[in-house]
Amino acid sequence: MNEIAQGLNREILQDNPHIYELLSELGRKLYYPKGILTQSAEAKQKAHRFNATIGIATEQDQPMYLPVIHKSLANHDPKDLYPYAPPAGKPELRQLWREKMIHDNPSLKGKSISNPIVTNALTHGLSIVADLFINENDPLVLPDKLWGNYNFIFGVRSGAKNVTFPFYNEEWAFNTSGMKEAILSQQAHGKAIVLLNFPNNPTGYTPNEQEATDIVEALREVAEQGMNLVVVADDAYFGLFFENSIKESLFARIANIHPRILAIKVDGATKEDYVWGFRVGFITYASEHPAVINALEKKTLGIIRGTISSASHPSQTFILNALQSPDFQTQKQEKFDVLKKRACTVKQILEQEKYRDAWDVYPFNSGYFMCLKLKGVQGEDLRNHLLDHYGVGIISLGDNDVRVAFSCVEEQEIALLFDLIYQGFKDLSV
Ligand SMILES: Cc1ncc(COP(=O)(O)O)c(C=O)c1O
Repeated sequence: MNEIAQGLNREILQDNPHIYELLSELGRKLYYPKGILTQSAEAKQKAHRFNATIGIATEQDQPMYLPVIHKSLANHDPKDLYPYAPPAGKPELRQLWREKMIHDNPSLKGKSISNPIVTNALTHGLSIVADLFINENDPLVLPDKLWGNYNFIFGVRSGAKNVTFPFYNEEWAFNTSGMKEAILSQQAHGKAIVLLNFPNNPTGYTPNEQEATDIVEALREVAEQGMNLVVVADDAYFGLFFENSIKESLFARIANIHPRILAIKVDGATKEDYVWGFRVGFITYASEHPAVINALEKKTLGIIRGTISSASHPSQTFILNALQSPDFQTQKQEKFDVLKKRACTVKQILEQEKYRDAWDVYPFNSGYFMCLKLKGVQGEDLRNHLLDHYGVGIISLGDNDVRVAFSCVEEQEIALLFDLIYQGFKDLSV
């Protein structure tokens, strides 16, 4: 194994052997090489005469660029667009995202976390978790209502074994005891990766205070029984909390609660800032030990260097400029209000008596989505029927569940949407 990787592993082992045990084989091998990028970084600081290190082309002290490209981006300085961004991301962006994270998550106060590292949005952040921590057959514990792409990121790519538990319990609250049971069912394996996503896709649910406290307590109890856990907060829809749920990431509450628990936050601008195609996300680690944080950061940079090399520079610049703008908060609030109104309208409309025979409404309080549990009609049948006869698209989640994205339906159209879904249901249930 490479000597730098061995050094990082020694640092982790020394301060927290459980984190070392959690690393995958690949995770143990990863390191950040003292290659061209390190030499370039050194030259950037010291080579005041000629810096002949970097793999870009320059003229007149600027990156070269084509006017046909720059004409769409003329408001930006070429240096903020065309050169490679550092593999960890633009330092100012990382700093601002960290400040935002601490501001939005009061439970992080006084806790030791890494600087966020820029990823090619959340999917990439999650794939880094898979690369660093999942070996073939490691259990991935998550609720049964889940974002389908997890199967690719963790299962197909890294061979994780899905261990699911029902999202809701019998009282239709978050099923913490089911989660605990599912984790403990893997006790013999010694390790599990727990994946929590709130606001949730597909349910649109975020736990309330009591549920959040119970989740944290359950994880602590599992760790006390000797299991090592990586707990990933997929915070794709962070901030879209419309009701009385907690309004911070579970990462903030789970960070550093037990030496056997490694909390990781995967978040980003994708949905939070309405820039789905920009591909800017972040991965952040919690540890009380600076050397562990340093080693995990270096291993993360290693896998970034070996996969995407670095994330898009223009996209990072756009997000950085937005975060620095005095209009940012107001504009975000406006969009939040639009989505919140839609969520409230969905709730009101679904209270109508006529829908009672058609479906139960799964509890939702946040995010982009909500789910219906159809009574006696298969979700896939309804989905196809709505497409063929009404021109309405919804997502079927298997068996009787369907997901409706109110994030992309205007408020005044929501009543019609559910009436059409209901009409489709009635056609099929006769
Ligand atoms: C729960 C969840 N996590 C992650 C993602 C991926 O986000 P990104 O587009 O930033 O990769 C999505 C996108 O739909 C999602 O729903």
